[in-house]
Formats: sequence, C-alpha cells, structure tokens
Amino acid sequence: MAKYRIACLPGDGIGKDVMDAAMLVLEAVNLDAEYINGDVGWEFWKQEGNPLPDRTIELLKSTDCCLFGAITSKPKEEAVKELSPLLRDKGLIYYSPIVRLRQTLKLRTNMRPCKAYPGNPLNYRDDVDLIIFRENTEGLYSGVEFHPLPVEVKDALLMHPKMKSFLDVDLNDMALSCRIFTRQACQSILRAAFEYAKKYKKPSVTVVEKPNVIRETSGLMIREARELAKEYPEIELWEANVDAMCMWLLKNPQNYSVLAASNMFGDIISDLSAQLVGGLGFACSANIGDGYALFEPTHGSAPKYAGQYKVNPIAMLLSVKLMLEYIGEGKVASRLENSIASVLREGKVKTYDLGGKNTTLEVAEEVIRKVKD
Ligand code: IPM
Ligand code: MG
Repeated sequence: MAKYRIACLPGDGIGKDVMDAAMLVLEAVNLDAEYINGDVGWEFWKQEGNPLPDRTIELLKSTDCCLFGAITSKPKEEAVKELSPLLRDKGLIYYSPIVRLRQTLKLRTNMRPCKAYPGNPLNYRDDVDLIIFRENTEGLYSGVEFHPLPVEVKDALLMHPKMKSFLDVDLNDMALSCRIFTRQACQSILRAAFEYAKKYKKPSVTVVEKPNVIRETSGLMIREARELAKEYPEIELWEANVDAMCMWLLKNPQNYSVLAASNMFGDIISDLSAQLVGGLGFACSANIGDGYALFEPTHGSAPKYAGQYKVNPIAMLLSVKLMLEYIGEGKVASRLENSIASVLREGKVKTYDLGGKNTTLEVAEEVIRKVKD
C-alpha cells in the first residue's frame, strides 16, 4: 500500500492542464502515493445539477489530502440556463464547489503565500515576501442570503434602528447577504497567522479589516487580535483598514509579512498580492482544517485556454510544494521550491505570461530536470 492517498480534482478548463503538470512532478519526485481522481465542476452541474457530487466528498474523506485544479463559477441565472433540460425547473442553485468544500470539510485556514522569486520578470518589486491568512468558512461567504427578503427577516431586522431607512422598500427590491463572524473562527485564523509568524520569525502580523465602519464583525476580529497578540510579545500586531491596505500593498509591500483577514477581504487582498509577484500564474494556496487539507492554485479555469497547455503551471507546482510540506515531506518540498526558483532565475523555459513560448508541460519538465540535478 502506498504511504499517502491523495485525491486529485482537476475540475474545469485549465484545471486539467495544470493538474497534468503537477502529476508529472509528483511522479518525478517518486512520492509514495496513490492518486485518486474525483468528479467536480461544470460538467457535473450541467448533467447532475450538482458540481460537487456527494461521492466526491466521500472520496476526499478517504484520503490524506486533496489537490485541486480550477473551477468555473457563474452567477445564479447563467448557471441555471446551462443545466440539462430535465433539471432546469427543479429550483437548483449553483454553489461554488470550492467554497462548499472549504465549508463542508471545515478547512478554516486559507494560506496564500506571495513571494517574489528572483528573475521573475513580472515581479512588482523583488523584495516582496508575504503570506495571507484568509478565514475560509464564514464572513460574507456564509451563504446566508435572501432575495426577495422574507417578511420575517425584515421584521427581525427592524429591531435595529438603522433598518428604519429601508422600511418602505419592497421585499422584492431588497437583497441581503449576511456577513457572519464567530469568535471561534476569528481566533482560529488569527492563531494560525501568529503561529506562522512565530515559527518563521516574522516581525509582524497585520490584521486587515474595516472596524471604523463595519463595527461589529470587523470589531470582533480586531478585539480578538489584540487579545491574542498578548501571547506573542515578540510579534507586533498592526491593524489596517482594507482600503488603505490595498494602497499600502502597492506603496510598500516589502514592509508586510503576515496578513490576516476575513473571507472576503482575504480574497481581495490575495489577488492584489498575487499580482505583486507575477499574477495568478504564481498564486498558490493551502486550505487547512483539522486533519485534512486541500491545495489549489487560486487562478480560475480560464476556459479560453483549456486544453492548450499554454498557462503557467507554477501556481499549481507551488501548491504541490505546500502539500508536500503538509504531509511531512519537507525535504522534497524544498527541493521542488528550489527547482522552481532556479527555472525562474534562468528564465529560459517560460510560458506566455512571462514572455515565453513554452507549454505548461515543458515548464514542468524543466522543473523536473532541476529536481533531479
Ligand atoms: C479564490 C476564488 C474563489 C473565492 C472563487 C472561485 C469562489 O476567488 O479562491 O480566491 O472567492 O474564494
Ligand atoms: Mg479569489
């Protein structure tokens, strides 16, 4: 029996292209693992009305961790139009499978490292090395949403004086998406950020919220951060509003090391930060829970490039590196990262985003040559 059981969910579009690149690398490093493919994505939405079939969740539960490709997400109405005719009138609602996986498997911590590798022509600056800890299961992604607004919900909200300004708005003309924060989830993401800062001797943790306006939810996060910071006297706690943070990230990204944020703000600052180090082709991530984790590049499925083996596999290969670290194969992980860094430093083999003409798989093969050096 292999030492590790790894679920592979290529998903949609270029998810398959980058998964192929990942598999080449994993085979080359001789990881003692069994890889099991699972169904997820648009195809299953159209045919089964569920982009994340139950059998896939069961499969994941029987594995050590999961490698995930990419997923196509569309707004509600567009998604329903693409359902097979038999399913169209059943009132099915499309929910993003990756968001569901994060919630179902309680993968509370989303880690998104953004590091400028020397020689990457897309680096905004060469000294960026930061990591985002994004709360992954609640906040604006709670999924508690209404449209039209049920009258009971409106009545309940009228307990709040500010709701009076919406008193005359028709229920059909009002939509509500709830931003739910729990103390436990705030503590959990902050703890992960501080522990990381401690382990890697990072000087600061910046909590990115907006407590001056979103008083209750952001306020809870900030208070928890201040409380927790007392346990880590060697690490400075910085507080930034999310709008100002976007500005600071463009002005002085080198000043930041560990950022912690709720789900939506973490999503936003992670795309911005990814662009500082080369764009989504470099954006890797780990979704970590208790006893399970899922690793994915955070780029989308880029349908227009699907199957062309054109896109940059580095975001995926860096996600593989995070996976290797997670399962305890730290040495292989470092070898892989050094090989990726060396391919970037040499700049000979590169995909179109870096000004090159090489394919996804040629980049993977070049990384493999370095791994074997
Ligand atoms: C991400 C993506 C997802 C998210 C989408 C695809 C649902 O943007 O992983 O950053 O919003 O979390
Ligand atoms: Mg995103």
